[in-house]
Amino acid sequence: MSHTIKFVKEVKIKKDKTILASAKDAGLKIKAPCRGKGKCGKCVVRVLEGKISEPTKSEMKEIDEKKIKKGYRLACEATAQDSVVVELVDK
Ligand code: FES
Repeated sequence: MSHTIKFVKEVKIKKDKTILASAKDAGLKIKAPCRGKGKCGKCVVRVLEGKISEPTKSEMKEIDEKKIKKGYRLACEATAQDSVVVELVDK
């Protein structure tokens, strides 16, 4: 039988910084093989609460619309427009 554990870490971020850059500043690791160029689709996170930037063309290309509506976004493209809660997703 396996169990799960949820780690929570709250950090202050700078306005207009991407989620990927903010995570890196906070010491959190998000897979980013294309180094934040919006081309690999591996940095997907899920925004659970709060206001986030509108999806970019790269996000529309890498993530299907249904998932975007559920909060899935590219960490290298999306920026927080308010205080947000972001789930790190293994992809
Ligand atoms: S790091 Fe490749 S799409 Fe974000």
